[in-house]
Amino acid sequence: MCGIIGYIGKKEIVPLLLTGLKRMEYRGYDSAGLSILDSSSELKSIKKKGRVNDLELASMDLNVKGIIGIAHTRWATHGYPNDINAHPHFDTKMNISLVHNGIIENYSIIKQKLIQEGYSFRSDTDTEVLAVLIERFYDKVKDLEYAVRLALNEVNGTFGIALISKYEPNKIIAARRGSPLILGIGDNEYLVASDASAIIEHTKNVIYLNDDEMAILSPDGFITKTIANKKVKSEIHQLEFDLEQIEKGGFEHFMLKEIFEQTQTIRDAMRGRLLVDEGNVKLGGLRSVRDRIRNARRIIITACGTSYNSALVGEYLIEQLAHIPVEVEYASEFRYRSPILFEDDFVIFISQSGETADTYAAIQEAKQRGATCLGIVNVVGSSIARATDAGIYIHAGPEIGVASTKAFTSQLTVLSLLALYLGRMRNLSTIDGIKIAKELEALPDKVQMILNGASEIERIANEYYQSRNFLYLGRGYNFPIALEGALKLKEISYIHAEGYPAAEMKHGPIALIDKNMPVVVVAPKDEIYEKVVSNIEEVKAREGRVIAITNYGNTDLEKLVDHCIYIPDTLPLLTPILTVIPLQLLAYYTARLLGRDIDKPRNLAKSVTVE
Ligand code: AGP
Ligand code: GLU
Repeated sequence: MCGIIGYIGKKEIVPLLLTGLKRMEYRGYDSAGLSILDSSSELKSIKKKGRVNDLELASMDLNVKGIIGIAHTRWATHGYPNDINAHPHFDTKMNISLVHNGIIENYSIIKQKLIQEGYSFRSDTDTEVLAVLIERFYDKVKDLEYAVRLALNEVNGTFGIALISKYEPNKIIAARRGSPLILGIGDNEYLVASDASAIIEHTKNVIYLNDDEMAILSPDGFITKTIANKKVKSEIHQLEFDLEQIEKGGFEHFMLKEIFEQTQTIRDAMRGRLLVDEGNVKLGGLRSVRDRIRNARRIIITACGTSYNSALVGEYLIEQLAHIPVEVEYASEFRYRSPILFEDDFVIFISQSGETADTYAAIQEAKQRGATCLGIVNVVGSSIARATDAGIYIHAGPEIGVASTKAFTSQLTVLSLLALYLGRMRNLSTIDGIKIAKELEALPDKVQMILNGASEIERIANEYYQSRNFLYLGRGYNFPIALEGALKLKEISYIHAEGYPAAEMKHGPIALIDKNMPVVVVAPKDEIYEKVVSNIEEVKAREGRVIAITNYGNTDLEKLVDHCIYIPDTLPLLTPILTVIPLQLLAYYTARLLGRDIDKPRNLAKSVTVE
């Protein structure tokens, strides 16, 4: 959720930490802070409510030279976002400085005990309890690493931590359980961060820490081990993206850049996988489970937010093409519901970040029950990608805008490939396979056609951005797109919006319709198009204002609705990949007109690494 960065090396440390934080600011951003060990091993710290820019201003006067430092952007879970609750947190003597991502669930019990022992606290956070607990053990054992290990044994919950101390000023100690941490191994410099985007400027060599592992970084090298002090063999991986991929490239916002990247990202999701002449798909990541998945009796897909909406489209696709029953469930519900799973079940986990705590926890649940776990993930090497038995990367590249756009269409593309792959292993004919593969191949150019019409969508946004509510309707494959359109609008414009199956409207939401209610109807020409038109009639009869998404050339609808946005023809089952794009743009332009903070909407974080 938040971002952590730690650095040991020869570069100028304060600007380096601030740049690292800025690169991760999208993860969480209600406050920020940093600590440096200066040349006389004194701890110099500064913490500020607000953005990294506020911290930068505040640290202008912090004229310190040092080679070791840690920094943090916070997404508050315990205690208001203010200067005091911002990280780093300290022990009572201000000799240890700690940054933390996650939640210490038993903080309150530990805090009471420490208070009884005479320790005192400055903040309301769970994190400070861990800092003081480390102090308590350090007072006894006089060995920082050992004190950290003893303290971590006492805490429940999730953590990714990095700490420095004037007691042992030549090291950063880092550890993780349930929150991501990556080590960067440079030339005589070492980093630790929660996100590769903070490391990439310095090195492409990284080590992904696993749960219950820790690292000790020093100017001469690094050691990794388990928190229980057992040796681990850590492999060095190469990061696969470049710095320019995480910069805005001339666009006003990351979200807009990412919407416009979709022509390319959809192509990338298919690259090397689509066998058009055979009407088939090659999915290297599923090789190890190929034979078993052919005979799967049931697939469960679980995810959160936008990834959940793509899972719903996946359900329609897999049932249609492969005739395998599919169930979709929110990851947060799945893990606490005691789900009934069989050993021949496949559970698919969809996640852009690969770090969503609810989804990650659901994997442990499914594994315990013997099901095979597959991942559809964007971030290579992320926790979910590594915890699943097999999987398919969506290869959308770094997604920085908090509102997910390109990852969604890449997830849909990969789910279409998966459905085709499963279908061809079971009952789908070569001819039908070729037809679908050809249409998939043609999608990127069609996406470009929609993007070329962005200014028309901006014009429509101009007419409606002051509305207080929006309704989104769709049916069949496009019902989840109605949900996704409403989610996008809510997230970045803060306008209340609801997505509904179009035919459900008459069972309740129709009561909301009057001349002030914009209704966005996803109405591509498919087998249920006529039914959707009837739903539009119902809205118009109550003076609702209708914005319809339909196919080029379908001018009939123009007479009925207030605005038409057109998409090119494709197979009905692939329409969601096209119909969602105007909805992303509509949300974007509406939020822009309202002057919202589009890439970092209030209260939201890019990867939700707490429950
Ligand atoms: C998307 O716009 C949202 N910000 C959010 O719903 C997101 O999709 C959800 O938190 C799941 O994230 P993940 O795909 O990284 O697991
Ligand atoms: N639980 C900690 C806090 O509220 C850390 C939150 C985070 O992950 O940013 O300060």
